[in-house]
Amino acid sequence: MSDEIILAIESSCDETAIAILKNGKELLVNSVNTQIQDHQRFGGVYPELASRLHLQNITKVLSYSLSLKGFDVSSITHVAVTGGPGLPGALQIGVMAAKTIAQYLNVPLISVHHLAGHIYANEYIQDFHYPLLALIASGGNSEIVYLPSPMTFEIIGETEDDAIGEAFDKVARALGLPYPGGVMIDKVSQDPGIEIFPLPKPKVSGYNLSYSGLKSHLVRMIEKEPRDENGKIPEKRVKEYARSTEVAFVNQLLDKLEKAALEKGVKQVVIGGGVSANSYLRAEAKRRFENSEIELVIPPLWCTTDNAAMIAKAAHHMIELNRFAGLDMTSQPDRDLEEESN
Ligand code: KG4
Repeated sequence: MSDEIILAIESSCDETAIAILKNGKELLVNSVNTQIQDHQRFGGVYPELASRLHLQNITKVLSYSLSLKGFDVSSITHVAVTGGPGLPGALQIGVMAAKTIAQYLNVPLISVHHLAGHIYANEYIQDFHYPLLALIASGGNSEIVYLPSPMTFEIIGETEDDAIGEAFDKVARALGLPYPGGVMIDKVSQDPGIEIFPLPKPKVSGYNLSYSGLKSHLVRMIEKEPRDENGKIPEKRVKEYARSTEVAFVNQLLDKLEKAALEKGVKQVVIGGGVSANSYLRAEAKRRFENSEIELVIPPLWCTTDNAAMIAKAAHHMIELNRFAGLDMTSQPDRDLEEESN
């Protein structure tokens, strides 16, 4: 049988990424161009700038990726792209590039859901055993998803207001930490001696989550903090806030995840999205599942940020299920995960 070679493109937010995956297992290329520094001065992703940078960078990332290891372009058998959800203008650039390449090479096109990518990224370290539970924690999502079988998604819990990453970023901003705030909160919370203070536990039904009330409570507390002559909160206090925020935010997430995992009787729990890079989340999740029959799969750090390797992995399963897109496909900024279900 001839090799399956997927060229995958991701451009849903602030990373322009290209990956090449051979036979569903061998990652030949994984290039990521991040725009984080370009958006830093705006304190968050500026959508119009994101689109322009994708347009400017996509051919560079593509030609760089294809030049690696003397890659033979004619060996590509499929083109995959993030079709949504994401920023409309940003998605559009990846979709146009993917359609052009697929048409030029006359190969099938696959439109992948971004969150399916975050879930399937975990397969780079462990094969999946169903039923499994996936936790997606990112700047725009906080969801607990049940997968009874491959590429079938049932959202059993989600945030009723802010996503966890968004809430991290807002608390960090109130503390005077730069964007992306979640990363900075993690960085300043590393010292094991930091004292933490208790925070209220939101009352949310089922496996749902809530971060808005907790975030507003913290921002109000921070506004009342004494400051030095430069208007800055003392470093020790910033660290106490950061660590206390991290512990409260992550424990809410893991309490629901643990409960859902036990009640649904899953074989595995997998974690994905930008916030899955958080050191406390990774350590605490490991601690909670270490004596359990349920296997916890945590993605390698390179796989937590947006990349095209995860899109290629999900596309590989879509090929097995014969799920292809036409050349008339469009991006879907509000694409629903449950509608992806097989
Ligand atoms: O999945 P992602 O890269 O893209 C979006 O959903 O936009 O997630 C980005 C989010 C940001 O809110 C960022 O602050 C957060 O993930 N994040 C973290 C960490 N690394 C990234 N939050 C907490 N701890 C981290 N180490």
